[in-house]
Amino acid sequence: MEKYVISGGKPLKGDVTISGAKNAAVAILPATLLAGGRYVIENIPNIRDVTISLKILRELGASVRMLDRSTVQIDSTHIHDSFVSYELARQMRASYYFLGALLGRFGRASVSMPGGCDLGARPIDQHIKGLEALGAEISIDHGVVNAGCTQMVGSHIYFDGVSVGATINLMLAAVKSKGLTILENVAKEPHVVDLANFLNSMGADIRGAGTDVIKIHGVDLLHATSYSIIPDQIEAGTYMIAAAATCGDVTIRNVIPKHLESITQKLIKAGAQVDEYDDAVHVTRTGPVNKINVKTLPHPGFPTDMQPQMTVLLTLAEGTSIVTEGIWDNRFRYVDELCRMGANIQVDGTVAVVEGVQELKAAPVRATDLRAGAALLIAALVAEGTSEIEDIYHLERGYEDICGKMRLLGASIKKVVTADNELAKAL
Ligand code: UD1
Repeated sequence: MEKYVISGGKPLKGDVTISGAKNAAVAILPATLLAGGRYVIENIPNIRDVTISLKILRELGASVRMLDRSTVQIDSTHIHDSFVSYELARQMRASYYFLGALLGRFGRASVSMPGGCDLGARPIDQHIKGLEALGAEISIDHGVVNAGCTQMVGSHIYFDGVSVGATINLMLAAVKSKGLTILENVAKEPHVVDLANFLNSMGADIRGAGTDVIKIHGVDLLHATSYSIIPDQIEAGTYMIAAAATCGDVTIRNVIPKHLESITQKLIKAGAQVDEYDDAVHVTRTGPVNKINVKTLPHPGFPTDMQPQMTVLLTLAEGTSIVTEGIWDNRFRYVDELCRMGANIQVDGTVAVVEGVQELKAAPVRATDLRAGAALLIAALVAEGTSEIEDIYHLERGYEDICGKMRLLGASIKKVVTADNELAKAL
């Protein structure tokens, strides 16, 4: 087991450079299966979810080569399989994108049911409804989703709820379908738009990404391409909140400020100062944290993946803030850990009442999922004394070199191997 040991109480200061977007990368990598050929993808984040996606591509027969630390070359000419094993699929949610991509390439796919963060129920009924509307026959046997179709045909699909995953999976499956596919009530997240741009650079005909309706004219042939992934909105937002929470002074580089607007607005209301530049934002805080209310919503609303980090900032507010989780039914599991650090938070279902406290106190805590881990790290940076965070593998699924980047900002953080692991190695 590995853990982070953090000595908190110091403001973060300096510059940090944001990596490529995790949620765009895990959609774009499977998309390289849609047409055989040699792809070059730049701004790939060095995180575990990307490593797993690349492993899946290799297992399916692609050749994968890192050209430098953030550029990967993928040759998907000789794909020999359409089965994604449980061993890999269970390690991340986005493994279900291989379903849409393999269906698009071969008309068949078998993908074990995905894993990922435990945020409550994570159904895939909208994915299945959409793929069936395109003509796929789907069955779930022993935890494996099997899909097959001789010819995918365009269709008009209205999603019952806004789903990032279903929107992306349907785009992947529909690009080579016959005729027109109309997707309504779709997700508008930046990574949905990034995937559409990537697919269009392969020769697809996708319009409307970033709005509620996406229209896809199926094409017979796609080709390999070169592409650079957008910066990670959530990684950027995490450093923005870390800067505000520690009374820091941080410039966050390689960002698209437009993607950060909902976070910027809430931070300003909470008392931080945020200056926007072309591809950077600068965050400081000198005054108190103001109480605010936050509700997570699909883009362009406040992102659910920033909810735990924002809650940490609000534990320091003067007064009571209300945080409402509008996407997931169980995304407050980290609150117990935060309360062990002195936070005063009552959770009732999907609503958290956050009573501001004078200070957070260092404590040993456990990351319950990826963004919960980021939130606890921010809390540890704020709290005087030494905190330890266990189960950091969650954090490393989605944050590139978070220790190194935080250290460059002056944080005292180190990663250590815990004794029980040493013992396990010795046995
Ligand atoms: C993606 C993100 C995740 C983020 C979430 C919401 C990736 C790899 N992950 O997850 O970090 O927290 O968007 O912004 O991009 N739903 C259904 N049926 C379905 C699919 C979803 O009812 O078939 C519901 C879910 O239970 C949830 C809501 O729709 O309540 C949103 O889920 P969705 O947008 O699909 O999340 P993911 O794509 O899994």
